[in-house]
Amino acid sequence: MTHQSPRRILVTSALPYANGPLHLGHIIETIQTDIWVRAQKMFGHDCRYLCADDTHGTPIMLKAQQMGITPEALIAEVSASHQADFADFMIGFDIFHSTHSDENRRMASEVFLKLDARGLISRKTIKQAYDPEKEMFLPDRFIKGECPKCGALDQYGDNCEKCGATYSPTELKNPRSVLSGATPVERDSEHYFFDLPQMEGQLKRWLSEDRVQPAIRAKLQEWFDSGLQAWDISRDSPYFGFEIPGAPGKFFYVWLDAPIGYIGAFLKLAESTNLNFADYWGEHAETELYHFIGKDIAYFHTLFWPAMLMGAGMRTPTAVFTHGFLTLNGEKMSKSRGTFIQARTYLNHLDPQALRYYFAAKLSASIDDIDLSLDDFRQRVNSDLVGKVVNIASRCAGFIQKQFNHQLSDTLSAPHLNAQLIAAGESIKNRYERRETGQAMREIMALADLVNQYIDEKKPWTMAKTPETLPDVQGVCTDGLNAFRILMTYLAPVLPEMSAKAAQFLNLPALRWEAIAAPLVAHTINPFEPLMTRIEQTATDALLAATHQEAQALMQAITPPSAEPKKVPIEPIAPEIGIDAFTAIDLRIARIVHAEHVEGAAKLLKLTLDIGEENPRQVFAGIKSAYDPATLIGRHTVMVANLKPRQMKFGLSEGMVLAASQGDGGLFILSPDAGAAPGMRVK
Ligand code: MSP
Ligand code: ZN
Repeated sequence: MTHQSPRRILVTSALPYANGPLHLGHIIETIQTDIWVRAQKMFGHDCRYLCADDTHGTPIMLKAQQMGITPEALIAEVSASHQADFADFMIGFDIFHSTHSDENRRMASEVFLKLDARGLISRKTIKQAYDPEKEMFLPDRFIKGECPKCGALDQYGDNCEKCGATYSPTELKNPRSVLSGATPVERDSEHYFFDLPQMEGQLKRWLSEDRVQPAIRAKLQEWFDSGLQAWDISRDSPYFGFEIPGAPGKFFYVWLDAPIGYIGAFLKLAESTNLNFADYWGEHAETELYHFIGKDIAYFHTLFWPAMLMGAGMRTPTAVFTHGFLTLNGEKMSKSRGTFIQARTYLNHLDPQALRYYFAAKLSASIDDIDLSLDDFRQRVNSDLVGKVVNIASRCAGFIQKQFNHQLSDTLSAPHLNAQLIAAGESIKNRYERRETGQAMREIMALADLVNQYIDEKKPWTMAKTPETLPDVQGVCTDGLNAFRILMTYLAPVLPEMSAKAAQFLNLPALRWEAIAAPLVAHTINPFEPLMTRIEQTATDALLAATHQEAQALMQAITPPSAEPKKVPIEPIAPEIGIDAFTAIDLRIARIVHAEHVEGAAKLLKLTLDIGEENPRQVFAGIKSAYDPATLIGRHTVMVANLKPRQMKFGLSEGMVLAASQGDGGLFILSPDAGAAPGMRVK
C-alpha cells in the first residue's frame, strides 16, 4: 500500500429542519455522508463530521404556537428525536449541535458585521404582505388565492400547482392569509440585503476550480445567465431567530444563520477537542471542507454560502457534493399519499444496516434520483449480505469450531484467492473516495462470489467425511474466514455494527484497513452467531401499512373542521342472523397490489388484490369519489373472498372490499392493524 500523509478533513450533512421527524430522504443523505466519513477515518485521515438541527424560521415558530409550547421546547423535543433516529441508523457524528446556540449567534453576528463593514449589505424599504389580524408579515407560502394566470383556486403565494406559473403574492386574486383567513394588506418594511452580484467574479473563479458536479455546474450557469440578485437576509418580528445587531425588531432570515450553523457546530466541537479555528475556517485554511446536500438546496450552498464566506474573509468549501432525491417504488414521496417513510417507522420494522447497504448499493456521485423499491431492497439484501457474505462465514465457522477446536490453520491453502481479494483494495478505496459506493458494493459482491465458488469446488462438507481429507478442511475454512475478514473490512464503512461483530467472532479488536494483507492464521476464533437474517415480505408490508396509517392520522389531524363528515341519520341495524350465516362469509386480508381508474366508470376503481392465492383477484370497487388510486397501492384492506364473481361492463369482479359509508358522509375502506398478512381470514 502506498504511504500517504493523513489529510485533515471537515464534513457536513445538511442541517435538518427542526419542525418534524426525520424521514428516509434525510436518512439517505446522512448515510451517504457517514459512509464517506467512516471510509476516510478508516484510511487513517483526520476527518470530522458535523451536523445540527436547523431551528429558526416562521414554520417552527407557528408550529410551537399551535402546540402551545415555546419554540425552545419544540426544538429540544425534535432534537432528541432526530438524535435518537440518527444514532439508531449508526450515523457517527463527531458533533450534532443546534443553530439556536450561543456559538451560532456569535458567528452569525460576526459574519454579518464583516459583510456590512465591506459594503456588502444594503438596506431598502420594500412592500410586503401583512396579516392585519395575526399582526405579522406573511411568507409567500402563508398566502393562498386564485392563480393570476389560470384562475385555479387555493394556490400558494409563490407558484401555481395547476399551471406551474410563478408569481409574487401580490398578483394572486382574492388572496387570504392561511393563518387567519384575513385579506393581507401591503405594508412597508426596511429589509437588509446581501449584495450577491458584487461577488459574481469571485464566485465564478471558485466554481471554475472543480467544486461541484457537472449537472450542478450547468444549473449554476443558468443562474448566472439569468443574473444574480441581491439577497434579502432579514425578517421582521415576530420571528424565531437571531436579532440583527443594531437593528431591533429585525431578525436574520433562517437561511443566513443555517449554513453558519456548520461553523457554530465546529465551535462547539472545538471546545472539547482542541481544534484550531484558523486551520479550519481561516482564509488560507488547508483543511478540506465538504458539504453533502440534496439538489433542492444547491443554490444556497454553491452561491450564497461561498459568497458569504468570501465576503467575510474566510475559506470556501473544497467541494459541495450533491445527491438526488429518494423516491419510493418509483414515485416521489408525498405526505398526503402516505409514502413518506419516517426514520422511526423503518426502525420499528427493519434492520438499519439493511438500508445502509441498500442505499450504498444505489448511491453514486451523480445527482440522479434514487429509488427505494421495497421488493428490490429485500431481494438485494437477502441475496448479497445474507446469501453471499454472511454465508461464507456460516459455511466455514462450524468446521473450525467443532473439528478443530476453534483454531485456524497455520497457513492459507489458497494464497492466490487471498491475493486477489487484497489486490482489489486500492480500487475499492478509490470508489469510496469518489462516492461511487454502488460500484464499490458490486466489486465487493463479485469477490464474495469468487470465494463462494472456491468453497463450492472444495466441498469441505464432503472432505470432512473422510479421515484422509479431514485435515484439509481446516485450510479451506481458514481461507474462507480470511476472505470473510477482508470483505467485512471493505464493508465496514457501510456496516459498522456487522463489522464489529465480525471482529468479535474472529477474536480481533477491530477490522482495520491496514491489516487486510496480514493473514489471520494459527489463531483461535470465537463461536459464530448469525450477523444478519433474511428480510421477509411481511416486514416490508408492515412498514408500508404503518406508513399509510401515519399518513391517515396526519391527514385527519390537518383537515379543517368544516370538512368533518356531515351528520346524517344512522342507518337502522339489519335483522338478526345466526353465527352460521356470518361464518358463511369468507373475509380475508387483501393487499392492494394495484389500483387504477376505469375508463367510462364514474364511481369505480379497478383493484388488484393479493390474498395469498396464486393469481391475484380483480375487484371493481365503488370508491372512486374518496380515493386517489395511487394512495391505495401497497395498502392492506379486507375483502369478501367468496362472493359470487359478477360480470360487469368493465370486466369480471371477483369479490368485494369492505368500506364504511353513511349517506354522503364519505367512504372509508378498512385497514387491519400492522402485521396482518394477505390471505389471513377475518372472523
Ligand atoms: N434546513 C435546510 C438545510 C440547511 S443546511 C445549512 C433543509 N432541511 S431539510 O430538512 O428540508 O432537508 C435536509 C436535507 O435532506 C437536504 O439536503 C435535503 O435535500 C435532504 N432531503 C430532504 N428530502 C429528501 C429526499 N426525498 N431525498 C433525498 N434527500 C432529501 O433543507
Ligand atoms: Zn395557474
